[in-house]
Amino acid sequence: MPFKPVQLNDGRYLPTIGFGTWKIPKENCASQVDQAVDVGFDHIDTAQAYRNEEEVGQAIKEQGLARKDFWLTTKWSGVDGKQPKQSCEESLEKLGVEYLDLYLIHSPRLCQGDIPGSWKQMEDLYREGKVKSIGVSNFSVEDLQTLLASCSIKPVVNQILLHPYVIGRTEPLLEFHAAQHIVTEAYSALFPLTSQPGGPVDKPLNKIAEKHGVKPEQVLIAWASAKKAVVLTTSRTKERLEGYLAAGDITLSEDDIAELDKAGKKGEQKQVMVKKARTVGRVVLAGAAVYAALRLLGL
Ligand SMILES: NC(=O)c1ccc[n+]([C@@H]2O[C@H](COP(=O)([O-])OP(=O)(O)OC[C@H]3O[C@@H](n4cnc5c(N)ncnc54)[C@H](OP(=O)(O)O)[C@@H]3O)[C@@H](O)[C@H]2O)c1
Repeated sequence: MPFKPVQLNDGRYLPTIGFGTWKIPKENCASQVDQAVDVGFDHIDTAQAYRNEEEVGQAIKEQGLARKDFWLTTKWSGVDGKQPKQSCEESLEKLGVEYLDLYLIHSPRLCQGDIPGSWKQMEDLYREGKVKSIGVSNFSVEDLQTLLASCSIKPVVNQILLHPYVIGRTEPLLEFHAAQHIVTEAYSALFPLTSQPGGPVDKPLNKIAEKHGVKPEQVLIAWASAKKAVVLTTSRTKERLEGYLAAGDITLSEDDIAELDKAGKKGEQKQVMVKKARTVGRVVLAGAAVYAALRLLGL
């Protein structure tokens, strides 16, 4: 499992694959985190908004893990309008830990137009020692530029949606991350399997999986790793979790990556065209409705 930790711009080392707890119901969360830790995951990603931090904390306690032996990320999601300070304190309490390894602004939307102000609160939490590293999620290049123009501590990561169907529009952001020494964290890398089966990525994905003698989900994880991203993923099954970790052994060729990128961009273009056609359809329908109403009124 050569998923080697990556060094962050604050000097700390982040494990490059993590188990995420989004959408895991409270009642299953502790056992699923237990299973992930048993399989070998040492990086857990959760969020205030997932409403399962207590169960994550329960699993950590049950496992008897030494605090230094696992990486714990949670996010300020603005639940109930709470600001980062209060949210972080509540997350620490729920997770049952003294500090977080990484605390993220879940979305720039939460900053309500004041990215510097929200980031200042994150920096305060860092200085108080409650969080060892700070970062962001779902930030665009423009959002990051706003933050970087005023921060005194740089974000260490930006956690973003990353899969072949968004690679075309995400490439500039990945380049910006690299130039600024901000690590990319990828979520929903398995989107082509979970949410867009039958799309143009399927064919090269299955072919590449067969060539390497691995599963398609492992190829997508290897693809995200090849984009220099830390991969956040999840599964209910032990077999899949083992497969995810084993994906660290897969080396995709440049041709494999190019084929997946090309198919993803094709799917992306199709989606853009469908979106445009829908917008045009809506405008035409609205126009027809206005015309009919005017006719009805005899105007
Ligand atoms: N910052 C953010 O805004 C944000 C947003 C979304 C996610 N995240 C983080 O990223 C983590 C992972 O997100 P994600 O769940 O979207 O990740 P993902 O890795 O794309 O998807 C995981 C899912 O893929 C399924 N899967 C695996 N192999 C499959 C296959 N061959 N065919 C069909 N389904 C397959 C698994 O189902 P089984 O359980 O059945 O194996 C699992 O539910 C989250 O838990 C969260 O921590 C962050």
